[in-house]
Amino acid sequence: MKIAGSVALVTGANRGLGAAFARGLMAAGAAKVYAAARDPATVALPGAVPVRLDVTRPDDAAMLATQLSDVTLLVNNAGIAEFGPLLAPNAIDALHKQFETNAVGPLRLVQAFAPTLARNGGGGVINVLSVLSWLTLPGTTGGYSASKAAAWALGNALRQELKAQGTELLALHAAFIDTDMARGVASAKTSPDEIVRLALAALEAGQPELLADATTRDVQRGLVAQPPVYVEQRA
Ligand SMILES: NC(=O)c1ccc[n+]([C@@H]2O[C@H](COP(=O)([O-])OP(=O)(O)OC[C@H]3O[C@@H](n4cnc5c(N)ncnc54)[C@H](OP(=O)(O)O)[C@@H]3O)[C@@H](O)[C@H]2O)c1
Repeated sequence: MKIAGSVALVTGANRGLGAAFARGLMAAGAAKVYAAARDPATVALPGAVPVRLDVTRPDDAAMLATQLSDVTLLVNNAGIAEFGPLLAPNAIDALHKQFETNAVGPLRLVQAFAPTLARNGGGGVINVLSVLSWLTLPGTTGGYSASKAAAWALGNALRQELKAQGTELLALHAAFIDTDMARGVASAKTSPDEIVRLALAALEAGQPELLADATTRDVQRGLVAQPPVYVEQRA
């Protein structure tokens, strides 16, 4: 997969990491970048093509797939985080929303655009996941982590299915990134532009997975530690 000359569709491209993806793709020579947002008027990147997409709406995805026949790269970036304990009364409502946006949404987009990617030679998909696919911050990220773990598993299965049509899938795992989603976090954060630089390089190198920072690599190693990192309490 080469970024230069590609035609990308980035979900949640109006702010945060999605806006950085749109910028980074244009800087890396993408021929066209469709910047998808729930409100396309909030896309402020000169040269990008704003399109309307709520990833929880099946009709939006289906309609876009009929309109954007030249896409060669899908960046599943849109996501939400509703933090709080799983024992709270609203936890199941919050879980449904996070699953619908963070796990079902990316699957819906891959389903909608897989035929387009196949027709255009294979292309690629980037799924934006998290170090929290593998770890839960106690009392805080139970629902978010479950949605990202589901998205991780779905992506692993999709990678196998997409291989038959020559489409690559990169799973991007990162710890805190300096965007609105992590605004209240005091810990170290990676800049969105750096995450994008690493992700585009990983996609071009044909990697199935990118662990974008030292924390994420540490946590992934901890999956096989004793006790495993997801059992040990972390602040
Ligand atoms: N920030 C972090 O620390 C961090 C770390 C690891 C992974 N991530 C992941 O990185 C991705 C980008 O997050 P971010 O940090 O850039 O967060 P953000 O600043 O809160 O931006 C989230 C983006 O997703 C869009 N979005 C939310 N729900 C949507 C929906 N139903 N349909 C379409 N777009 C929707 C938002 O659009 P609106 O403007 O309309 O709300 C916004 O563009 C997410 O998947 C997140 O889980 C973030």
